[in-house]
Amino acid sequence: MLIAHLTDPHIGLGPGQIECDIKPVLALRRALVHVAHLRPAPEVLLVSGDLTDSGHEADYQTIADLLRTQLPAPAQGGPQVLMVLGNHDLRAPMLHTLAPYMPVADDAPEGTMCLHATHGDLHFIGLDTVVPAAPHGTLDAARLQWLERHLAQAAGQPVVIFMHHPPLVSGMAVMDSHGLLQGRAELGQLVAAHGQVQLIAAGHMHRAITGQLGGAPVTVLPSVSHQLALDLAADGLLACRMEPAMVGVYRWTPEDGMACHYSYVKSFGAPVPI
Ligand SMILES: [Fe+2]
Repeated sequence: MLIAHLTDPHIGLGPGQIECDIKPVLALRRALVHVAHLRPAPEVLLVSGDLTDSGHEADYQTIADLLRTQLPAPAQGGPQVLMVLGNHDLRAPMLHTLAPYMPVADDAPEGTMCLHATHGDLHFIGLDTVVPAAPHGTLDAARLQWLERHLAQAAGQPVVIFMHHPPLVSGMAVMDSHGLLQGRAELGQLVAAHGQVQLIAAGHMHRAITGQLGGAPVTVLPSVSHQLALDLAADGLLACRMEPAMVGVYRWTPEDGMACHYSYVKSFGAPVPI
């Protein structure tokens, strides 16, 4: 099975809001076209938050329109799309417009949009890490208990976890101060205890980062729109940089496990046989 992943399109972010040449709608359209042309076709597309920049319903509608027009429907071979919100999103308008892609669990902690879906042999658990009106994320006791329950339901079965705030410390000072400030160690304990978490996929950092937690790989993708400059100084500042967008293409089989590929959205021309 192939799983595609994209993150942080920030629809609604306009010129003048940051000093970068950003075109978020065009960037998301290009990323979706890229996903639609992947062969073999991915069966699942994960979207890990910050779909919009300010949570406007019209921006979610733009995303719904792009998903409908740029991806084949699942019945026509398109991917099952699953998404979680990020700190720039607002729960009510996102769920109102994008509910088909957010199968929120009946027992999700109150006010959260945690989800648990299955596709083939894989469980997909989407964690809502958002603290309303705050840039940082959390896995509080209620969310951890929910996750523990759902990992128990999937005991012995392979699981992919996806979430907006990555459970790692990157060394990018400002982003770490806006990172997953609560529940990282506990998440690692749950992942280790389950033993079958194949991958934790995240966004938020606007950079490509790899780590591990509880024995599972953690992969963080760049935004499909705009990146943050790599700055690991203790007093490093946030700066936008128009580095290339990438889509994650994750190959998983029961026999081989997980292999994470990263595919540039930009065309570099036709492959040259060697
Ligand atoms: Fe973001």
